[in-house]
Amino acid sequence: MSEESIYGKYQGTLYKLEEDLIGLFESYKRQELEQTGIKVYEHLSSRIKTEKSMREKCGRKGLPQTPHSALRELKDAIGVRLVCDFVDDVYKNVEYIRSFANCTVVEEKDYIRHAKPNGYRSYHMILDMRTPYEDVDGNVPGHYFVEVQIRTIAMDTWASLEHEMKYKKKVSNQKLIEAELKRCADELASCDISMQTIRQMIRENARDEEEETIGEGK
Ligand code: GTP
Ligand code: MG
Repeated sequence: MSEESIYGKYQGTLYKLEEDLIGLFESYKRQELEQTGIKVYEHLSSRIKTEKSMREKCGRKGLPQTPHSALRELKDAIGVRLVCDFVDDVYKNVEYIRSFANCTVVEEKDYIRHAKPNGYRSYHMILDMRTPYEDVDGNVPGHYFVEVQIRTIAMDTWASLEHEMKYKKKVSNQKLIEAELKRCADELASCDISMQTIRQMIRENARDEEEETIGEGK
């Protein structure tokens, strides 16, 4: 006997919306690539929070395990992660997202400018999307929340490693590992900045050469 989903009759809508969102993100990526030759993010991943972890989160927050809790009280049933090559690109994506039609940014956390004490870095946005679908309040067009995390490849690798440590029950040398992770996070952040500076220098030089070529052609 299968238990009903915590997302109720809206479960299917979440998957449809996830596809729509991927289309939206891919479309501005394509547009930016065509117009400027720049890949605004390297790759994207998305997920609908699993039944198990949504129920667990409701429990942890003292909420009843209902579609309303999952889709209104909590705002990360749908999650999209954009992984970028450079820090500048993170903020370029933020601008694109702010300009989405039918979308209000209801929460933003810049853990890049303000890293968490453990070294975690990433830019978080919670979006309130107006969709063609019915929502948990029965409204059409309906509103759905989406959590977006934007980070560099270095920040992403670090977060995966830190996540692995956090969810392993028995880890000896916990304090040492935490300190090493923090040190790595800071070194990676410093490398991210250097890489960006180098990219900028390469681009400026490339522009000079283009100008020279144009000049020579005259
Ligand atoms: P929630 O109740 O979990 O939604 O807390 P919050 O709203 O304060 O969440 P926050 O925006 O800080 O983080 C949301 C998500 O970001 C988490 O579910 C993780 O995916 C990720 N995240 C935040 N902090 C960390 C961290 O220290 N390490 C790792 N690996 N991921 C983190
Ligand atoms: Mg959150």
